[in-house]
Amino acid sequence: MTTSPATSGAAARVLDRLERLYSLGGGRGANRPGLSRAEQDAHELVTGWMREAGLAVDVDPAGNLTGRQPGARPDLPEVWTGSHLDSVPDGGRFDGALGVVGGLEAVLSASAGGPHERTLAVVAFRDEEGSRFGRGLFGSRALCGRLGPDELDQRDAEGTTVREALAALGLGPPDPGGWLAPAPAAFVECHVEQGAVLASRDAALGVATAVVGVARGEAEFSGLARHAGTTPMDAREDALCAAAEFILRLRDAAHAVEGAVATAGRVEVEPGAVNVVPARVAVSVDVRAPDRERLDAVLAAVPEARVHVTDPVPMVAGPSDALRAAIADAGLPGVELASGAGHDAMVLAAAGVPTGLLFVRSLADGASHCPEEETSGDDVALALDVLAAALRRLAA
Ligand code: CO
Repeated sequence: MTTSPATSGAAARVLDRLERLYSLGGGRGANRPGLSRAEQDAHELVTGWMREAGLAVDVDPAGNLTGRQPGARPDLPEVWTGSHLDSVPDGGRFDGALGVVGGLEAVLSASAGGPHERTLAVVAFRDEEGSRFGRGLFGSRALCGRLGPDELDQRDAEGTTVREALAALGLGPPDPGGWLAPAPAAFVECHVEQGAVLASRDAALGVATAVVGVARGEAEFSGLARHAGTTPMDAREDALCAAAEFILRLRDAAHAVEGAVATAGRVEVEPGAVNVVPARVAVSVDVRAPDRERLDAVLAAVPEARVHVTDPVPMVAGPSDALRAAIADAGLPGVELASGAGHDAMVLAAAGVPTGLLFVRSLADGASHCPEEETSGDDVALALDVLAAALRRLAA
């Protein structure tokens, strides 16, 4: 496979810009919490790059930034790409920012390829990670009218509300009904995989089949707190032994269902003394699977778990097929995978926008949400080519 000099130039520009965004918040990694000064600085930098490229720039009441390249038929629904510019504390260079900075390059190269009917846009959504106010996916949910009833009154660790954080940036308050209409014809998000599936398949790019469903909750076990020295083994009710049996059953259930994962990441033991039989244990439960059937199959094996389920969001054919065709045209293997992490794409898909999600190979064993997060310049170049070709196809 080859890349054109123009594309390589674009990839080099993307890497350089990612580095500039990376240095904004100071610290060991990317530090751009949602609705913070550092995220705002990132939005202002990208606004400048959009203007420099000749795009028409718009900021909505949630602070989402859109750069538009008009098509020949402005009356038709638009085609969007994009992602987010905020980060977790000490995050990586690529998470979110690649989809915005790379999306900008892809929009430009798609429109440089000749006239297109639909307007192309690149969007930077606010506060995807939720590391400051908790819930995350703020900008995309505000756009789609999916904010919670008292969400603007949520406070960060310093006591600042979302409403106040928006006002301090000259934004908001967002209309609770959202402003998605007229909805775009398609949204394609480009994001690093944040896992090691593509690397293990020796593939630069992959197409998401779905954003996984998540069941999260807890299981509780009770026993009798008795003396560890005087209570015979056959007279015990040990809550932690019951919990241990549960955790292994949860693991085996997820192991038996392809594409499912399950984690018991936190255990509380009471009274928690070395010489007392455990009387009460609470185990956290996190189960993820690409569809509801597989999620339910794992949960059926652990009826003790009380969980809240967020349904899986399938990606639809239109934008995903455009990505598959562009990947095939580039001579690359067609790898499909479910997204184990949430993304803005999930919010737009759930709101009815035909949505596709392009993954770019993560190196460093798929490390993400840390400074070690890595993706090669060659893979970025391939992603830009494929994203631009898919956008052209969708906007034709
Ligand atoms: Co992200």
